[in-house]
Amino acid sequence: MKPQPKSIVILGSGGGSNAAAIIQKFENLADVKVVSVVSNIASAGILQKAADKNIPAIHFSRGAFSDATVLDYLKKINPDLIVLAGFLLKIPEDIVKAFPQKIINIHPALLPKYGGTGMYGDNVHKAVLDNNENFSGITIHYVVEEFDSGKIIFQEKVDISGCKDYSEIAKKVLALEHEHFAKAIHNVLTNK
Ligand code: GRF
Repeated sequence: MKPQPKSIVILGSGGGSNAAAIIQKFENLADVKVVSVVSNIASAGILQKAADKNIPAIHFSRGAFSDATVLDYLKKINPDLIVLAGFLLKIPEDIVKAFPQKIINIHPALLPKYGGTGMYGDNVHKAVLDNNENFSGITIHYVVEEFDSGKIIFQEKVDISGCKDYSEIAKKVLALEHEHFAKAIHNVLTNK
């Protein structure tokens, strides 16, 4: 019998360029399937990108994340992996507890530096620029209850010494995300 494909649910709050890259990678692979995309923002591009590919795209209000509505939804799907791709709410403790070692996040810097409360999106790149760092990068890690502190799965760095503006750093880091996130997900799901 052919093994069932591993299933992923993606959670995001933004434009969804990472989600699009992940969906594209797994579209033509038999062993992993994106089964649902969830956002806390009704107008988020990530939902449209999923809908364009006929993947169930669902908006849940902020309250639904804390009152167990989303937890129940995820339990029903029971995915092999929950992928946070630009998801800006803190994942509630009950969801983390229900899916141990099954939630991963991408952070646009080299953790443990530039992580923690308030360190998201452009705030990260501005802080990196202000500190005159020569390198930034990406960190893919398991999600635990404290922000940005779960076990690191993968890191990749990029030279940013020539960047004069934080938006140049953001661009380089996002390109790294697109290059590596789906591959790292595949490796996690196939135990490589
Ligand atoms: C990425 O930089 C990600 O690291 C950060 O938010 C951005 C998401 O972009 N947390 P997108 O929604 O995948 O386009």
